[in-house]
Amino acid sequence: MSAAAGEIDRVVADAGRPIVYELSRVTKTYGRGAIHALDPVDLTLRRGSFSAIIGPSGCGKSTLLKIMAGLVPPTSGRVVLNGTPVMGPRRDIGMMFQQATLFPWRTTLENVVLPIEIRDGQAAAKASHASARALLELVGLAGFEDVYPDKLSGGMAQRAAICRMLVTDPSMLLLDEPFSALDELSRDFMNMELQRICLEKNATTFLVTHSIPEAVILSDVVYVMSPRPGRFVEIIEIDLPRPRTLDMLTDPRLADYVRRIRSLLDEGAFQ
Ligand SMILES: Nc1ncnc2c1ncn2[C@@H]1O[C@H](COP(=O)(O)OP(=O)(O)O)[C@@H](O)[C@H]1O
Ligand SMILES: [Mg+2]
Repeated sequence: MSAAAGEIDRVVADAGRPIVYELSRVTKTYGRGAIHALDPVDLTLRRGSFSAIIGPSGCGKSTLLKIMAGLVPPTSGRVVLNGTPVMGPRRDIGMMFQQATLFPWRTTLENVVLPIEIRDGQAAAKASHASARALLELVGLAGFEDVYPDKLSGGMAQRAAICRMLVTDPSMLLLDEPFSALDELSRDFMNMELQRICLEKNATTFLVTHSIPEAVILSDVVYVMSPRPGRFVEIIEIDLPRPRTLDMLTDPRLADYVRRIRSLLDEGAFQ
């Protein structure tokens, strides 16, 4: 099922779960109006849902994510998370980027508890070691708590970054191409891990990606964005059973979704 951008409420109404995130008519221009990054964007996310946004490079995906995270103010429009407007960085939001950016002079465990140390100080960070260890176990990094990042592979470093994102127990996860620096096999595997962790935590997740199969295999809903200024050209609900598995990558239903999204992106590219 799909809907034009204006009909988004109809799509999300099907989920029957409470709304956690609401963006209304959010726009963004940079450089005193010189760069028009986002056209009005409306977005409604429901608790526990997994959504992905896909679009050409430079269309405004990261801008949208930063606005959702409270890192960049919108030029106009409203952003509401868990009933309160997003005016700046928030405790209930976890973010992850393309690079893990672990500090080389801190151990894995010390990197994971860093957000707590910054927020609440060293004693609080120390008190959170047990939950950080449990998270490291959840992502398969038990035994690597006390090593330094140069001993971790790219995939392991990204797992540590997942733990760092989860350590403050955010209800909302914002991911900006988190695994795009990994080789394809590690990336597929990490995506399945991500799905498992999101299901286990009942997290609401919003993923920026430029991989169409990745968007489809992970998501309940895929938002297809136009070239800059970004707007949603189509909202596609992915009707595949959960949990998703890697063998679904060869499922004809997945191939249909991929083809459809590719043709939408191709159309956009030549407009
Ligand atoms: N801080 C900034 N100042 C000026 N222009 C920016 C800034 N951040 C992004 N842009 C511009 O806004 C557009 C959208 O960027 P971005 O959101 O990073 O796109 P995407 O993540 O889809 O590749 C691009 O043209 C980019 O050059
Ligand atoms: Mg980007």
